[in-house]
Amino acid sequence: MSTLVIGSGFVGRAVAAHLLDSGEKAVVASRTPPPAETGREAPWTALDVTDPAAVRHALDTAGAERIVLVHGPSDVTWCEEHPEETLRGHAGAARVVAEAADGRRIVLISTDNVFDGTVQAPDETTPTRPANAYGRAKLAAERILAEQAAATVLRVSLIYGWEPATAPKWLNYFSSCVHRLRAGERITAPTDQWTTPVLVEDVAAVTAAVLSAPAPALLHLGGPERISRADWARLVARELGLPEDRVTGQSRALGRYASRPENTCLASTLLTVHPATAGVRVRGVHDGTRLLLGRAEAAVH
Ligand SMILES: NC(=O)c1ccc[n+]([C@@H]2O[C@H](COP(=O)([O-])OP(=O)(O)OC[C@H]3O[C@@H](n4cnc5c(N)ncnc54)[C@H](OP(=O)(O)O)[C@@H]3O)[C@@H](O)[C@H]2O)c1
Repeated sequence: MSTLVIGSGFVGRAVAAHLLDSGEKAVVASRTPPPAETGREAPWTALDVTDPAAVRHALDTAGAERIVLVHGPSDVTWCEEHPEETLRGHAGAARVVAEAADGRRIVLISTDNVFDGTVQAPDETTPTRPANAYGRAKLAAERILAEQAAATVLRVSLIYGWEPATAPKWLNYFSSCVHRLRAGERITAPTDQWTTPVLVEDVAAVTAAVLSAPAPALLHLGGPERISRADWARLVARELGLPEDRVTGQSRALGRYASRPENTCLASTLLTVHPATAGVRVRGVHDGTRLLLGRAEAAVH
């Protein structure tokens, strides 16, 4: 099976790597090439997903039978300042891909931002209520794909994974905590901003499972542990053997998370019982943090 993964960022590259490791074919697509990595890399093709002719051409050239939509923009602040581009980038792209798909299986990686964060851990039955431009654009994309028989919307909570200290910019909270604490920095983080983090490789494994088996039209993927940003930073400090008091907790109202909802969490109620995904392991943040730091330690020695 061959899959066109549209978006070659943090999540898209992990999805493509998982497919390759499973013996399948995958091509990643985006407007600019991703940075070179040392691991196994999927071939890259240039694509602007809002261009209908380019999407048809990329599908044909890749011989793709399946599509994963995992492209940006996803920076909440940028999206708020550019609502029209954000809508075009998600809803416009979903329309283009739906029209070009010709019955191919589609998985859209969506977000907990389709909720406003007032419900502690929403499941698939919780009414959506986005509170920002990013969430509104992703919800519009979801609705377009909901009209496609062969599509699944996989809403995922905050995703984390390993990024090297030398990366130009750390794309996820975990990596930023690790490298800042190791560099001797202190971290101030909210005690009242809650997440259900998911390891990027678990997101990739669930996406692959959803691609290859009949799956519900809508699935939530949140990690099994709910944790505040401050407690997660303290966990990282402990696992690094550093004093926890390098992390100062404060109310989210005081920091740069002020515009973020109280909860960016999801309940994986359906995922854990549906035959397509019930067998896929989704690790909690304690296990995931230890796993990533253990691997980094082993790589040094
Ligand atoms: N990271 C998370 O915690 C998280 C959680 C839930 C859901 N998600 C979803 O996962 C998706 C990807 O997240 P990420 O963290 O991997 O983001 P990322 O690292 O910023 O990657 C985004 C990718 O999309 C590409 N892209 C943007 N506009 C495009 C366009 N018009 N045509 C083709 N490619 C385009 C970017 O490359 P170019 O700019 O070069 O085109 C880049 O490769 C987002 O849709 C987000 O909603 C992420």
